[in-house]
Amino acid sequence: MATYKIWGGRPLVGEIPIHGAKNSVLPILAASLLCRGRCVLQNCPRISDVEAALEILRCLGCEAQWEGSLLAVDSSHADGREIPVTLMHRMRAAIIFLGALIARFGEARVYQPGGCVLGERPIDYHIAGLRQMGVRCEYEGEILYCQTERLRGCTLTLPFPSVGATENLILAAMGCKEELVICNGAKEPEIADLIGFLRVCGAEIDDSGPVLRIRGGKPLHGAFYTVMPDRMEAATYLMAGAITRGDVTLRGLRTEHLKAVTRLLRQGGCELTEGKHTMRLNCDTIRAVGPIVTAPYDGFPTDAQAPMMALLSTARGASVMEETMFSHRFAHVPALQNMGAKIHATRRYAIVEGVERLRGACVEATDLRGGAAMVLAALSAEGYSEISNIEHMERGYTDFMPILQGLGADITME
Ligand code: UD1
Repeated sequence: MATYKIWGGRPLVGEIPIHGAKNSVLPILAASLLCRGRCVLQNCPRISDVEAALEILRCLGCEAQWEGSLLAVDSSHADGREIPVTLMHRMRAAIIFLGALIARFGEARVYQPGGCVLGERPIDYHIAGLRQMGVRCEYEGEILYCQTERLRGCTLTLPFPSVGATENLILAAMGCKEELVICNGAKEPEIADLIGFLRVCGAEIDDSGPVLRIRGGKPLHGAFYTVMPDRMEAATYLMAGAITRGDVTLRGLRTEHLKAVTRLLRQGGCELTEGKHTMRLNCDTIRAVGPIVTAPYDGFPTDAQAPMMALLSTARGASVMEETMFSHRFAHVPALQNMGAKIHATRRYAIVEGVERLRGACVEATDLRGGAAMVLAALSAEGYSEISNIEHMERGYTDFMPILQGLGADITME
């Protein structure tokens, strides 16, 4: 178990490159299973979740490897229909391969996925949608076995705009000759990126109206595609700049994806200057901000809630946060409290009263974004901190420690 050792109190100053989006590249890699021919992806993040997705592809019989900074996948000879339990447990996004397997082979054997422990994370919307498309889905012990002779077109309505369910159903629809219409699908930019990839591979998808219209059944070909920048990586570094009262410039991001975050940072007193693909943040002081409620895009992202809470722990005044997306997404609160943060939390609400200064402590990362929040708190705190279980952060941040070191942070790994 690796640990970050951090001496806090240094303002972060400098430039940060934003890498490709984890939550885009994972469904895109699942989609590459549907292409006959080579897919080459540019701007893929080098993170452990991507390595896990590559292992799944290889285990299904695809060729998948890094070629310098590009990622090449050839699924022409794919023949596997089962994802082993160990790979399913490594990350929740493994479930997105289910739709792709059904579209390609008409059958799949998978297990309940793993990933961050954010509370109940059922896959009932995925399964209900697949059943409506004519897929038999049955649990045999821990195995979920899905099979269909023919995928049916239909109009289905998701009870909630689930990102993963929308992706799975789009991918399954690639194997369906009739039209699939998805109402109340997720509208996150990562969904648009998946659709962008499928289109360059030859798919017909209309996402211009209130519903998604997918016309599958055509074979997809290989393609070259550039993955969009990671808005959660960008949000984390903006908050790292703010919590250390620093001056950071992000390069290679899509500023329009971050509006819900930057509006609050401005409200809190940060100065933000936007270029075409750059954003500079300068911060002397942070004030409390008006209630934050996590919501589907373009609301405030649940993945930015923990880093934002760390930042508000150092603000003047009290802020209220409400987590509506996941039932247990305040697991980082006890660690922040150990570092001197004044947070009163129930399962859903948190009142964050800013303190003058956080103090160093030894804490354990609980999940990807919660762990990032602890790193941010430690960077701003007085004294020394240790953050263990940093494998969580390696799932989602490329070169996290070297980037922070380059900005002047005193951080090492043991
Ligand atoms: C994705 C993101 C994750 C982000 C989340 C919400 C990836 C790899 N992960 O996760 O970083 O935090 O979107 O923006 O893209 N739900 C059900 N039944 C289902 C599916 C979902 O009840 O079948 C519930 C979940 O328990 C949760 C909510 O819907 O409470 C949102 O989940 P969902 O949008 O599916 O998140 P993920 O796709 O898992």
